[in-house]
Amino acid sequence: MKSKSGKFLLARLAIALLVGIMASCNTPDPKFQQYLVEGEQLYLVHCSNCHQKDGRGLRRVYPPLAPSDYMDQNFEKVICGMKYGLQGEISVNGNSYVQAMPGVPSLTELELAEIATYIYNSWGHQRGLIESKSMAALLDSCARPRYRR
Ligand code: HEC
Repeated sequence: MKSKSGKFLLARLAIALLVGIMASCNTPDPKFQQYLVEGEQLYLVHCSNCHQKDGRGLRRVYPPLAPSDYMDQNFEKVICGMKYGLQGEISVNGNSYVQAMPGVPSLTELELAEIATYIYNSWGHQRGLIESKSMAALLDSCARPRYRR
């Protein structure tokens, strides 16, 4: 009797554990999903003209985001660049680009976080949710001259 209820308990525990694991894998974080969806819309409006819908860029004129080693190594500059522009020669996947990128100063912290979440979780990038509340401190750092090349 005792061992039977013990087995029963074990089985229930195992099932509860399994259900728990499945639920945590399958339930997408709603905030992450929202950022991805809205980030994609904003990307299509503000960025895809140059970097193209598929993020592959345009010849040697507009650098690719899909993939981009520059993006991996220069997170802050990328965020700053979206808002304030990016200029000077940069190297992306071993190719150099010299055109200036205009910024979109009207982008809010939420919009920047949404675009960043989209581009940093598409085309092989997997950075996860980029919080809008992390943008303020990051944008402060853009005002420093080192980002105004
Ligand atoms: C008018 C064309 C244009 C638009 C619009 C534009 N970019 Fe760019 N982008 C460029 C150019 C040109 C560069 C290279 C700048 C340099 O050489 O300093 C660049 C560089 C970049 C880089 C760093 C290089 C790389 O390929 O990883 C990222 C990331 C990026 N842009 C993302 C964006 C995002 C996100 C948007 C929309 C908010 C955007 N760009 C809008 C032209 C553009």
